Amino acid sequence: MEIKKVGVVGCGLMGGGITEVCARSGYDVVTLEVKQEFLDKGIGSIRTSLERGVKKGRLTEQEKDTIAGRIKGTLNMEDFRDRDLVIEAAIENMVEKKKIFASLDKICPPNTILATNTSCLSILDMAIVTQRPAQVMGLHFFSPVPVMQLVEIVKTLVTSDEVLKAGETFCKSLGKQPVLCKDTPGFLANRLGMAYLVYVFRCYEQGIASKEDIDKAMRLGFNHPMGPLELSDFIGLDTIYYIMVSMYQDLNDPLFAPPVILKKMVTAGQLGRKTGKGFYEYK
Ligand SMILES: NC(=O)c1ccc[n+]([C@@H]2O[C@H](COP(=O)([O-])OP(=O)(O)OC[C@H]3O[C@@H](n4cnc5c(N)ncnc54)[C@H](O)[C@@H]3O)[C@@H](O)[C@H]2O)c1
Repeated sequence: MEIKKVGVVGCGLMGGGITEVCARSGYDVVTLEVKQEFLDKGIGSIRTSLERGVKKGRLTEQEKDTIAGRIKGTLNMEDFRDRDLVIEAAIENMVEKKKIFASLDKICPPNTILATNTSCLSILDMAIVTQRPAQVMGLHFFSPVPVMQLVEIVKTLVTSDEVLKAGETFCKSLGKQPVLCKDTPGFLANRLGMAYLVYVFRCYEQGIASKEDIDKAMRLGFNHPMGPLELSDFIGLDTIYYIMVSMYQDLNDPLFAPPVILKKMVTAGQLGRKTGKGFYEYK
């Protein structure tokens, strides 16, 4: 199962990042969008990132052009006909993801491996709409993709060992550090991370300490590079809220019940850095 040609569905924040790291690692990448303006925006962001690499002296002009030359944008899924691996990074909606997997299954050759970058949806549910459920796995990258080292390789009840091995080899070839986990709500990192954040929000809500001191305690006491409330503003409180709701419902575990303060802040549009205000204010 050698992977040389990669397809990426969606050229937003994650799909664009995945396209970029694949091209940087020598893969030929076709990236699919629904509208030309989204494709232009996504490819434009990749170009800006590569140009930043040149300015910082990490890439030469020639390397930048070679990497950019490996990327082809398309609005037509038929262009995935020769792909060895397709990674889906479209919106976090099961109905849409099932439609995408059913179409990929019709278009891609039988040996193509299909992967999803979903944050918390059931991968088995996507796999069973295809005729190749054993060739479907999760490849869960973290944002920003060019920077973050971790990729979760997610195994459903039916993913084959051969496909998981191909996923591991592929992630390592991108310079990433894979971990293997089961197809359960939140997989591994979000399961652990959300359990931590939900408790942080409760401590904040109960007035146990100020936001600054909560962050300071975890930075200095546990050597975390960022305090949990700073981190939450960075991720986006809406994103955290939706992940918690989904985990609470799927696991039926009150541990993940989103605290009232989080829901109120999301309702008020205080989503963190992206809206200029979350636990902290941003100019
Ligand atoms: N944002 C994060 O930090 C993060 C981290 C890990 C995983 N994820 C997951 O990655 C996926 C993408 O998230 P994102 O943050 O990049 O979202 P995004 O909104 O930035 O990008 C999604 C892109 O997919 C495109 N798209 C939608 N339907 C499509 C289709 N049928 N065909 C082709 N393109 C389509 C959209 O036009 C959009 O540009 C989601 O499943 C999300 O849960 C996100």
